[in-house]
Amino acid sequence: MTAATWIDAREDEATALDEGDAAGSARDSFLLPRDDTSSGYGSLAYLAGNSLGPQPAGVADDVRRELEDWAARVVEGHWSARRPWGDYHAALRAPMARVVGALDDEVVVMNSLTANLHFLLASFYRPTTDRYRIVIEDAAFPSDSYAVRSHAAFRGFDPDDAVVRLRPRPGERTLRTEDVLAHLGAEAHRTALLLLGGVNYLTGQLMDVAGITATARDHGISVGWDLAHAAGNVELALHDWAPDFAAWCTYKYLNGGPGSTAAAFVHERHLGDETLHRLSGWWGTDPSVRFEMRAELTPIASADAWAVSNPPILSMTPLVSSLAVFEEVGMPAIRARSVALTAYLEQLLVGEPGEVPFAVVTPSDPDARGCQLSVSVPGDPAGIAGSLRSVHGVVCDVRPPDIVRLAPAPLFCTFHDCWRAARALRQAAT
Ligand SMILES: Cc1ncc(COP(=O)(O)O)c(C=O)c1O
Repeated sequence: MTAATWIDAREDEATALDEGDAAGSARDSFLLPRDDTSSGYGSLAYLAGNSLGPQPAGVADDVRRELEDWAARVVEGHWSARRPWGDYHAALRAPMARVVGALDDEVVVMNSLTANLHFLLASFYRPTTDRYRIVIEDAAFPSDSYAVRSHAAFRGFDPDDAVVRLRPRPGERTLRTEDVLAHLGAEAHRTALLLLGGVNYLTGQLMDVAGITATARDHGISVGWDLAHAAGNVELALHDWAPDFAAWCTYKYLNGGPGSTAAAFVHERHLGDETLHRLSGWWGTDPSVRFEMRAELTPIASADAWAVSNPPILSMTPLVSSLAVFEEVGMPAIRARSVALTAYLEQLLVGEPGEVPFAVVTPSDPDARGCQLSVSVPGDPAGIAGSLRSVHGVVCDVRPPDIVRLAPAPLFCTFHDCWRAARALRQAAT
């Protein structure tokens, strides 16, 4: 059997898998774009959920409600809208906390991801003359790299010296936990802070958040996590794992829409600690006295203490419908489906028969990855991704120099979508 007939022959199997298992799926809760190619399938196979999730079905009504309330009530909407705007973020707190395994008070929905990292670094990067280094991964998302370099410079350090980038071993693409731990042990006397991605955006590697956090804390190193690719993708237990802080965006797996409001976590042990420096604003003061317009802030013992501005209602509204889906399905069921989908995609990509001209760089251990597979594609990955979209109706994305990212997000992707993606990549890359 040729490779082409092998993959073609498996379409029925993919369809049967979908018929047999809908647990963890909420496909009907999303608006998925129609397939405008000649592939013959109804909707696009949307495997770019790690860049921007699709629109939850309730969003248009939710946004319309806010527009109506704005038109009808103007300023009075702050307290009399159907969802009053003044504490709009408060209603999102509990469902968001459940997504990341945090206590409600540890979470605040606010700002954008990089802005949140800045606010948190302002509090938790506390360098001394000896311990001033910030450890990140070499494949950190550029914005995180820029953020930590700017904080080092802000405190008078040379970013090239102060920011340490952890690299995989020669010939390897992902970090080994033991190497991260060894570095923390050896360099603790110089290290102030560790900031890593929970799931790396490029490789799809899921880090050992619990183990790395525990070791860093044992060495007196402050720990923060960028959970942009982890929140809503893998199960997290932030309160129990106890990093100092975390931040994440909501437009990827949380399907909050382009530029939707981000979120932040501060562990309970820091809440109400007035020795911590914060960059403050009026939404971080005690709401019961906010409109007394005092000159000095009245502290609150929750993650809201890091909020600065009144909530951006229109960029928060999609989260109402999106988080309702997460509440309904729950992270354990989402994750169980995700593990099955991603294993299936991997098997179709690099399973038998024969050689394929690409390689999956994401770890094959389900505990070391979320739903994303990063495929190293030689030649012209952008051209290949373009043909996946225009010929096969498969949406993925590309990160230089060689990575095509395929993320079968379990809430709306199917086994058949995985089959389409694998078949398309096999055809386009050979
Ligand atoms: C891992 C990671 N960190 C940070 C960012 C920056 O996010 P924002 O533009 O919302 O600040 C992104 C954006 O895709 C990301 O993937």
